[in-house]
Amino acid sequence: MPLTVQRSGVIESARYRQVLGQYPTGVVVVTALDAAGTAVGMVVGSFTSVSLDPPLVAFLPDKNSSSWRSLRESGDRFCVNVLAAAQEDVCRAVATRKTDKFHDIGWQPSPQGNPIIDGAVAWIDCVTEQIHDAGDHDIVIGRVLDLDLGDGEPLLFYRGGYGSFMPHSLAAGDADLLDQLRRIDLARPHMEGLADLFGTEVTAITLVRDELVLAASAGRTELAASPTRVGQRLPFAAPLGSCYAAYGDAALRERWLSTISEQLTPEQLERLREVPDTVRGRGYAIALGHSELSDLERISTLLHERAPDVSPETLREAMARVTDGYNPADPIPADVELRSLSAPVFAPDGTVAFTLTVWGPAEPVAPEEVTRYANALLATATNATRAIA
Ligand SMILES: Cc1cc2nc3c(=O)[nH]c(=O)nc-3n(C[C@H](O)[C@H](O)[C@H](O)COP(=O)(O)O)c2cc1C
Repeated sequence: MPLTVQRSGVIESARYRQVLGQYPTGVVVVTALDAAGTAVGMVVGSFTSVSLDPPLVAFLPDKNSSSWRSLRESGDRFCVNVLAAAQEDVCRAVATRKTDKFHDIGWQPSPQGNPIIDGAVAWIDCVTEQIHDAGDHDIVIGRVLDLDLGDGEPLLFYRGGYGSFMPHSLAAGDADLLDQLRRIDLARPHMEGLADLFGTEVTAITLVRDELVLAASAGRTELAASPTRVGQRLPFAAPLGSCYAAYGDAALRERWLSTISEQLTPEQLERLREVPDTVRGRGYAIALGHSELSDLERISTLLHERAPDVSPETLREAMARVTDGYNPADPIPADVELRSLSAPVFAPDGTVAFTLTVWGPAEPVAPEEVTRYANALLATATNATRAIA
């Protein structure tokens, strides 16, 4: 469809943000030490390489930013830290705190003495070469003095949300996913509250056509198989995504089972037929056993990365191997390894908009602890349902 071109002398700020927000960026933290030796820093999306010879980079700070003032007053040296996909919390902390931004963020001094944030995927030490005036922003040109790589994938920022790079993860046709991402963002404070309560990770998983897409995450668990789960995709097939089957119609339940039925024994199939009602009765889905289920997560990640010896068939076989860990009938055994609990968040039309998953601790938990997780999860899902209404 051709773009409609409107010409008008006035550019509304909301329109400006909306249109320019179509352009994704990475996220860096520009750091320095102030005169007292305290780390100062600013989250910046407007970072770019400028010139190779001489080596120059640039970023564009808001003239009114107090963080920029602190950086500027600290001297002419600064370090650009490219944040990793798992460092959304670092980004939020540095962007929102006014003072003592680094009190719980680990860092090492760069050759120029500026903070290099632990876990950054790259750092670039600079000396300010020029500062240009540009409307309500400055354009800071830095000459690169030193630079190096860390590990991992970078954090990305797009339309007000965070993510990580995944080839074709927002391919044409994923318009549904974009709608879901907007809804999930409304539920984000509730996800963060739950993640804080248990010191773990809370993820939002949505069904896009025939795939379960891990669309957002809050907090962290050391049990994750990869640094960020965001972007992971798994087939919508038993035993995964049981909340969707639980609240879906007969056709959806059938689709949930038929995709994997060839890999299942008749006994497994029989048991899985009961699962949607079990989940609906409890109000949540439960998954037990860390090593088995992290193996499944590992295989799905390999498939996504197009590892040569992993096929969709390998993944379905792995799913069939772990069905017993999902949604066992009552009573749930004592001292289990609680992998995760998932509950539905409903759209205004009563369908499941997305599911929230809270990830359990490494050590086995008593039944009362499972109940505590379940109650907190259900309360969070109810609040999220209200938030998106
Ligand atoms: C992802 C992200 C990218 C940002 N990019 C810029 C930027 O390019 N330039 C800028 O001036 N502020 C940027 N900000 C905002 C600043 O980091 C900072 O939060 C803002 O200036 C707050 O004002 P303060 O420095 O007075 O606390 C960005 C914030 C986020 C979360």
